Amino acid sequence: MTLAELEIEKAKSLQEIADATDAAAVESLRVKYVGRNGSIPALIKGMKDVPPAERPAFGKAIQAWKAEVEAALAGKGAGASTEKAVEADLTIPGRWFHLGAKHPLSRVIEETARIFGHLGFTVADGPELETRFNNFTALNTPPHHPSQDRTDTFWFNDDCLLRTQTSPVQIRTMLANRPPIRVICPGRTFRRDTTDATHSANFHQIEGLYVDTKPVSLADLKSVLAYFAQEMMGSGVKVRFRPHFFPFTEPSVEVDFSCHVCKGKGCRVCKDSGWIEVAGAGMVDPRVFGFVGYDPAQVSGYAFGFGVERIAMIKYGIPDIRWLYENDVRFLEQLA
Ligand code: PHE
Repeated sequence: MTLAELEIEKAKSLQEIADATDAAAVESLRVKYVGRNGSIPALIKGMKDVPPAERPAFGKAIQAWKAEVEAALAGKGAGASTEKAVEADLTIPGRWFHLGAKHPLSRVIEETARIFGHLGFTVADGPELETRFNNFTALNTPPHHPSQDRTDTFWFNDDCLLRTQTSPVQIRTMLANRPPIRVICPGRTFRRDTTDATHSANFHQIEGLYVDTKPVSLADLKSVLAYFAQEMMGSGVKVRFRPHFFPFTEPSVEVDFSCHVCKGKGCRVCKDSGWIEVAGAGMVDPRVFGFVGYDPAQVSGYAFGFGVERIAMIKYGIPDIRWLYENDVRFLEQLA
């Protein structure tokens, strides 16, 4: 038998074992291949007839075949004696199953859905390909706003783009429903950013929207985000609002969490400030209500949006955003 033929026989034997469906079939394959008169022992006996120069390679290949067949048979539960041995010796190590772990981004999204679920928020979804109206116009973002620029946004044509934020799902939700509305919208977003340790052209956001016919205030927003901060980052984490501007909220704020690592004293993670910027938020601008056909005199609400990668990076101490997309099991399984 040549080495090539041996490989073919090996593949065949492993396939037969894989295909075996009952214990009798597995046992007869064991006899056929590794039994006393099986084909592998016969090959080993025949080694003396192999030309000396080829012996080492041939011997190695046979041993590898034997080991693989034995492992495959064991995997099929061959040799009832294994069971007896286990009964006799409970210290025999168990078989190791390689369990995967949930991706950190999925974990943050699921955890967020759970936390806001407690507050009565449901999850809404929208497409990654959006219209100019949903992504910009209805969000009160005029054509001359820099975010509409070709250097900032992936445009397909004049009307069609890869959404730059999950905020268009607010618009879709409001167009399709009447208040009260309480949703979070997780999803993939795209910007023409050069990818570096903290930026990626393709990232994820979670948007939140609450609209009601009862008056909604900035204090409601703050209490909800304070609850979220504690559930997501740990008890004791505080929330701080800083004035900001977004076209679709008025007033607008940037939201910081107190640093969960140093408890606000200042460390590397929070760049010595004690605070970490995590979200944008504000009270829905009355003009946005106008775009979706709500009467701004009748309804009020708040919205917020944060980056999923950002939360994952600070929560799990991940220094480089690219690690989240490299599919390196050595990284991913550490967070199991
Ligand atoms: N969409 C904003 C961003 O991407 C975040 C935001 C959402 C701000 C909702 C206010 C309200 O920067």
